[in-house]
Amino acid sequence: MHTMTDLPAHKPDAYADLEASLRGLLAGEDDLIANSANLAALLYWSLPQLNWVGFYLVEPRRGDLLLGPFQGKPACVRIPIGRGVCGTAAARRETVVVPDVHAFPGHIACDSASNSEIVVPVVRDGELLGVLDLDSPVPARFDDADARGLEALVRVLVASLRSRVS
Ligand code: SME
Repeated sequence: MHTMTDLPAHKPDAYADLEASLRGLLAGEDDLIANSANLAALLYWSLPQLNWVGFYLVEPRRGDLLLGPFQGKPACVRIPIGRGVCGTAAARRETVVVPDVHAFPGHIACDSASNSEIVVPVVRDGELLGVLDLDSPVPARFDDADARGLEALVRVLVASLRSRVS
């Protein structure tokens, strides 16, 4: 059983603790769905001020983003690459931090409680696997420390995966 503990208030310290927890959670498993599900749950139940955490994974048949493991209310199922915050992060292959989702052109509203958002691309060996999306009811909830911390967690996820995902 995984025990959740309170995180330090200093964000880099909190993400260092989360990285240690994640390494323990993923040890011995190399499945994308299982490991992304545990990362989504770890973040949702550890970080404050979130209303949604989850993955959209590249769906090879259509080439768009398909809803993957998540915590929060039911969400939009498919997002084209280039659309919304998720599709923008996927197209650019870089983290997108949105302090006010209502001011982001093309933002896709899944949960009306969301006011700010961060999306981190999941890339392995140059191949886009999907994105990690976090939503908050608090305006400007996410900053550069969140971006760096979440990118480090996504690197741990990517390193855990088997060399081919079917
Ligand atoms: N807001 C996202 C859509 C996904 S939900 O937030 C869960 C976007 O604009 O891509």
